[in-house]
Amino acid sequence: MPRALSVPCLVDLLVVEEADAIRVLAVEARLDRGVPVRAPPVNRMIARRVAAVLQLDGRPLPSAAPRDTPGRAEARDALEARLAGRPVEEAHLDALADHVAGRGGRALGPLVQETVGRLFASGFRASEETWQAARLLDEAARSFNPVRRLVWALTGRVTGARRLLAREVGGDPAALHTVAIAVHNLVVSLERMRALAAGPGGFARYTPEQAASLCLAAPPRVLRHATARGATAHGEFRDGTLVVFCLEAARARSLAHDIAFLTGSWSRCPAQAWVPALLASVWQRAAARRP
Ligand code: HEM
Repeated sequence: MPRALSVPCLVDLLVVEEADAIRVLAVEARLDRGVPVRAPPVNRMIARRVAAVLQLDGRPLPSAAPRDTPGRAEARDALEARLAGRPVEEAHLDALADHVAGRGGRALGPLVQETVGRLFASGFRASEETWQAARLLDEAARSFNPVRRLVWALTGRVTGARRLLAREVGGDPAALHTVAIAVHNLVVSLERMRALAAGPGGFARYTPEQAASLCLAAPPRVLRHATARGATAHGEFRDGTLVVFCLEAARARSLAHDIAFLTGSWSRCPAQAWVPALLASVWQRAAARRP
């Protein structure tokens, strides 16, 4: 069952870690992304902090936008169609395969960032600077450490990181989400793949599809808030309740792709087919290139 944490007039959370509960709540009409209008102060603070990071020019990135944001669903569908069967550059596929096969080479973070950045901007070049900007934005979206947040506010580092990455991808909000936030899920997936390949049985033990499925990393947590009171078989919520979907914990228990990408919900990831296909082709190529 989801865990409720509530202190009247202060905080009201519902933490969901089971795949079945996430499937039900992800399509619940009374749960949305964005900043709640009415909510306890801690809920509002958390939602505002996340929204302040996951935005571009004051508009939420697609992964943080409320369901009915004009154009969001259409842009997501268009991106999904654009990604269908879209290969990555050969040099990137080789370099990713080298990494999984345990060979040295380029640092994985910038390599993956460049691979996904090129889906949007053909001249995108990842560097240590763009990679550190992505790490900072990802950390800022998850961190509630007040000291760190004060330092970021005073130095403007988060704003600078966002500006840098947005410029590199031509100001496309979905691309910014990809090179700043989604990239980390792919990096973790490929690190897992390298460990799997080095483990017992190595490449011979798994088909590319099995390896992709075992290694896929979901976002650790995504947030929703309740826009009205409601009750489901998987928990109750009040207006303003902050609902935390622990996607990675749920995926790890079930190995379900639909949980990793929220497939079947209004907020599904447009790369839900592209990512497993990429991971499978990296495994296949790495197996062919192993020392
Ligand atoms: C392992 C890799 C990935 C995983 C597990 C993943 C998972 C997800 C999940 C769970 C969401 C929904 C977040 C929420 O509703 O709060 C999402 C949204 C999104 N993802 Fe991914 N993602 C991955 C990689 C990518 C890549 C490579 C791209 C782009 C090429 C991408 C583009 C997007 C976009 C644009 C959205 C927002 C969709 C919308 O609601 O309009 N993702 N992703």
